[in-house]
Amino acid sequence: MPLAIGLMSGTSCDGISAALVRFRGRTLRVLTERTTPYPDTLARRLRRGPLLLAPEISALNMELGERFAKAAAALLRDAHTPARRVCVIGSHGHTLYHGPGDPTPSTLQIGEPAVIAQRTGIPVVASFRPRDLAAGGEGAPLVPGFDEAFFGDGPARALQNLGGIANVTVVGRTLRACAFDTGPGNCLMDLVVQRMSRGRARFDANGHGARQGRVDHRAVEQLWRHPYFRRPPPKSTGRELFDEEFVQRVFGSRLRRAPQDVLATVTYFTAFSIAESYRRFIPHRLREVIVSGGGVRNRTLMSHLTRLLRPIPVRSIERYGIPAQAKESVAFAFLALRARQGRVNHLPHTTGAREACILGAITPGRA
Ligand SMILES: Nc1ncnc2c1ncn2[C@@H]1O[C@H](COP(=O)(O)OP(=O)(O)O)[C@@H](O)[C@H]1O
Ligand SMILES: [Mg+2]
Repeated sequence: MPLAIGLMSGTSCDGISAALVRFRGRTLRVLTERTTPYPDTLARRLRRGPLLLAPEISALNMELGERFAKAAAALLRDAHTPARRVCVIGSHGHTLYHGPGDPTPSTLQIGEPAVIAQRTGIPVVASFRPRDLAAGGEGAPLVPGFDEAFFGDGPARALQNLGGIANVTVVGRTLRACAFDTGPGNCLMDLVVQRMSRGRARFDANGHGARQGRVDHRAVEQLWRHPYFRRPPPKSTGRELFDEEFVQRVFGSRLRRAPQDVLATVTYFTAFSIAESYRRFIPHRLREVIVSGGGVRNRTLMSHLTRLLRPIPVRSIERYGIPAQAKESVAFAFLALRARQGRVNHLPHTTGAREACILGAITPGRA
């Protein structure tokens, strides 16, 4: 019964999500999980991603490698499990740049795997995305490979992740998995809260702030006019599209004068854009929506989503034994395990790749 660790750092730049997982055939058990927050200064450096110079990127790559290794070590301490019992670490790394549509398609995840392997002694699988790019794909999304393996055999269901960006995979026994980014996840809400609190708060804890304000439905319509929402899948996006300028364009000085209303509105809009994207682009009759990611803790967001998707039930992935914020780390633990076993861990039609590959580069563990 192989044990694997998954390490993930997402677009929110909130920290490292880590999970220790036991896989047995098509079932899994999460033994421990934790998110180690980044210090503010590091989160700010990571957000500057594409603007960093080579010496800074090089240093950040090693520094993050150390942090990933510490996150893995802390996880093992929590689980009272010695490193030698773990057969692989799947490390997604932190995406500094993703440019699948550039003249030379490229993608860059940092968090040096050699450091993680050296500190822990455990083999590390990292650099999942470049292989998909090399095979002609967009380099994303990769989590559907996990979704299909663990949820693909049931009725038609959507797996909705609420990270910085929100993405969905639709799976089911009678259909071919499809996946796309619906648009903003936590990113607009985080941005407004960070503005309101002058950086003292990073997110709207439990959605309390959003509940104090009034939703402006005209602003919701304006936000919805963004062309991204009309593009049919497959499609993916990043924080670049849903940034301060996007919010400023619609709210202008209200961001300063009535921040609670702006927060209430972007929270509603986030749920609205998910539900409307389903209506437009998912032709299947869904039996359930399984949500994951840090956004599950935002109760205001979840109650909007539940209402807007009714009568489809919206349930947290915790019901399936996976802690919400650990979903993507669990997925990368699985993808790494497959790579280590020399087995395909890739659904090429969800990324546009020409053939099914074994994604990831393997760094050996202790000699
Ligand atoms: N208690 C909470 N209440 C509301 N939102 C939360 C809470 N905890 C985490 N979040 C949200 O979840 C985000 C992190 O989610 P995560 O799934 O790690 O996203 P990513 O993959 O983009 O890093 C935070 O930035 C925050 O917006
Ligand atoms: Mg995160």
